[in-house]
Amino acid sequence: MKTRTIRALPCAATLVAAGLLLTACGSSGGSGSGEQAGSTSFEGRGPITYVAGKDTTGVVPKVIDRWNKLHPKEKVTFVQLPTDADSQRQQMIQNAETKSDAYTVLSLDVVWTSEFAAHQWIDRLPEQRFPLGRMLKPVVETAKYRGALYAAPASSDGGLLYYRSDLLKKAGVSGPPATWSQMKADCAKVEKLPEAKGMSCYAGQFQKYEGLTVNFAEAVDSAGGVVTDADGRPDVDTPAARKGLDFLAGAVKDGTIPKEAVTYQEEDGRRAFQSGKLVFLRNWPYMYALAGKSKVAGRFAVAPLPGLNGPGSSSLGGHNLALSSFARNKATALDFMKFFSSEDSAGTFLKEASLAPPYTRLYDEPSLVEQYPYLPVLKQSVLHAVPRPRVVNYGDVTSAVQQEAYAALTGAKSSAQALKDLQSALQKSTGQ
Ligand code: GLC
Repeated sequence: MKTRTIRALPCAATLVAAGLLLTACGSSGGSGSGEQAGSTSFEGRGPITYVAGKDTTGVVPKVIDRWNKLHPKEKVTFVQLPTDADSQRQQMIQNAETKSDAYTVLSLDVVWTSEFAAHQWIDRLPEQRFPLGRMLKPVVETAKYRGALYAAPASSDGGLLYYRSDLLKKAGVSGPPATWSQMKADCAKVEKLPEAKGMSCYAGQFQKYEGLTVNFAEAVDSAGGVVTDADGRPDVDTPAARKGLDFLAGAVKDGTIPKEAVTYQEEDGRRAFQSGKLVFLRNWPYMYALAGKSKVAGRFAVAPLPGLNGPGSSSLGGHNLALSSFARNKATALDFMKFFSSEDSAGTFLKEASLAPPYTRLYDEPSLVEQYPYLPVLKQSVLHAVPRPRVVNYGDVTSAVQQEAYAALTGAKSSAQALKDLQSALQKSTGQ
């Protein structure tokens, strides 16, 4: 989705048109001073919670323990939510709507910043507390709403193509594919190998949830289309977008993507790849460390996502730390956010769990590039990734995308019909 600028929502008009009842519009730019930002003062010390999706890496409790040892009177309890983004969002919204103080620091998906900030479910943060100048620019942008900082970038995410380098080599293929048709041709060669018996060619995240929005947008962008244009207007009923969706729908139909992949989230695909069922898989960097300890260790590599006529583009993913407006002990929370999003913690998350850091320097450090040779590829993937729409009613936008993309993937609608219906649903939900 080519939404490269934050679309400043003209307050009342757009929100009313979008059918949203908000308590207020976000405050305008300018940086806070001291421990005050906007109207929030960060007071109170004591125990807090850190709320995030289930930790599949094992490293989050380790970093929290480090904090807890140093701050015995300000302990952090890790509250783990389900793995899928939509359920996390739902539970965080429920917590905010009941004004509960159960959640303190939220691990917010980059696509929720506008929604949470506009509803005043999270506090505006003092910018000088975080070393934003040392972070990748597009990552910092995901933490802002109407020019002000509402979250601390913690980890970024860019889509990568995982592939079985051992099998490609054996089949006489010299390197990873840059286009979808090369990928199919490579699979045809690999499938002839005896050890590839029963394998499928490609998978991504195609269940009806946020992961499908990501994969759909990547297919559209990688075919030269957009979901929303530079001004944030939906523009998805186009021949280019159709080529992108046709690739996915056609691949399910002809078996390039196995039928069961329409039930896959990130972890399902990872398990399939690790147990030797897939030649290619689109997934995030977190999988690199885990696959390195699996049956396919030493037999896979990563490359940029392929596209229609050349390398494709990734959706920009990641998570930022936000502070629930209804929380207590905000002075502790702010210190913990600084600690958890520091370059030191980002280094631990990278070394131990291959999470994409927000800090520019870590992508170029020789010892890290030796451990993770894909870091230069990942840096480019993040820098050129396309943000999903930055809109207050993101929930409506993503559910329309999920519904129409899923209908096309499962053959319930033609790509042309799905895109036509998506265009009108997006026009309605963005009030354009
Ligand atoms: C990853 C990304 C996040 C995205 C989600 C979709 O967690 O970091 O941005 O929304 O996957 O499943």
